[in-house]
Amino acid sequence: MIIAAACLPAVQAKPLLRRQGISFDYNYDKVRGVNLGGWFVLEPWITPSLFAPWANGGGVVDEYTFTQALGPTAAQNQLEAHWNNWITQDDFNEIASMGLNHVRIPIGYWAINPLPGDPYVQGQLPILDNAIGWARSAGLKVMIDLHGAPGSQNGFDNSGRYGPIDWQQGDTTSETLTAIQNLAYRYAGDTDVVTAIELLNEPANWAIDMAALKQFYYDGWGNVRNANAYTAVTIHDAFEDVVSYWNGFMNTQAGVNDVILDTHIYQIFTDDDVAMKPCDHVQAACSQASNLASTDKWTIVGEWTGAQTDCAKWLNGLGKGARYDGTLSGSTGYYGDCQTKYEGTVDGLLDVDKTNLEYFVEAQMDAYEAHSGWIFWAWKTESAPEWHFQNLTRAGLIPQPLTSRKHPGQCQTSSCMIPGN
Ligand SMILES: *[C@@H]1O[C@H](CO)[C@@H](O)[C@H](O)[C@H]1NC(C)=O
Repeated sequence: MIIAAACLPAVQAKPLLRRQGISFDYNYDKVRGVNLGGWFVLEPWITPSLFAPWANGGGVVDEYTFTQALGPTAAQNQLEAHWNNWITQDDFNEIASMGLNHVRIPIGYWAINPLPGDPYVQGQLPILDNAIGWARSAGLKVMIDLHGAPGSQNGFDNSGRYGPIDWQQGDTTSETLTAIQNLAYRYAGDTDVVTAIELLNEPANWAIDMAALKQFYYDGWGNVRNANAYTAVTIHDAFEDVVSYWNGFMNTQAGVNDVILDTHIYQIFTDDDVAMKPCDHVQAACSQASNLASTDKWTIVGEWTGAQTDCAKWLNGLGKGARYDGTLSGSTGYYGDCQTKYEGTVDGLLDVDKTNLEYFVEAQMDAYEAHSGWIFWAWKTESAPEWHFQNLTRAGLIPQPLTSRKHPGQCQTSSCMIPGN
């Protein structure tokens, strides 16, 4: 991670044309949201209790192997219970009460366009329908996010299937487009709430054909536009630079409207990242602002976190350790003890970790509002405290109102404001 010598002054992106019918003003209002992670797409580290029977082996590491191991009846029962309990109308009301205006809801293709031979079970869509009603009554906007594509677009457990990256093989691209089309038509009458559909989460630039991904983005945009004129279409940056790679693509000059570019900013998934000190993390966040403001499309940081380490149990995959304390196989360094960051509660975090997190979160909000705004990952987790927006906010570690700052101006100075650093 290269740290800018000095943080850049606050920068604001230029407004873009938008259709009158879209019900959130992505030019002038900031997206402030949370991801409802671990709800319709299981992630072992978000809900380790569901995966407890395989904690010491057995090959169940994702939703695919979970449903395969349980079989259709047991999988259906367990998942129905989870879907009905993990997030409820109360969550939507509390999200709105904290001043947030968006939820991003990950969902897998298997909920929308199940394929023969898959072990996955269905029943997510009627609950998503309810969620859109809860969002409406709470005054929240929804970005529906296709988080898993057939074959897996990134091989991460959060795509539904850990392992090989086979998206784009066979008919998987057209099957994904069908899922998008079905979603767009299903919610075409709900544009007062469903302001955006994300075509695909985190396609892996290291394993896929990027020219074919770009064509998929155009085709997916067309599928959404066939259903209605007003839903914004979110495209993920595929881990390419939002300016140098994506400027010029699908902007208004290219004849498309209402496109949101989504970038995810984590500072924890390499040894260099976890080696950074709290002040380095703040500066790295601040250094993103000018790039975000220089994009030629609406741009959100659609995932980010309070975590400065990869300590959370199973974050790197079920049964895997962390780079931070050297327990991940292949990692070489030791940067600190994971302690209470491995598993526990927000209240149980060490004071030093609470302080560092508070500064880091505020700096990220400052920087990520340089363009269209941000969506935190995640609203809640079972036991990963640094990722739990609800409890972090209840504990006073995330500002209320969201625009207030205990530590203002972190991105206006190159000096470190964190005590003891
Ligand atoms: C979040 O808060 C709830 C309610 O106090 C508590 O039961 C839960 O353990 C907390 N989880 C975390 C990760 O802080």
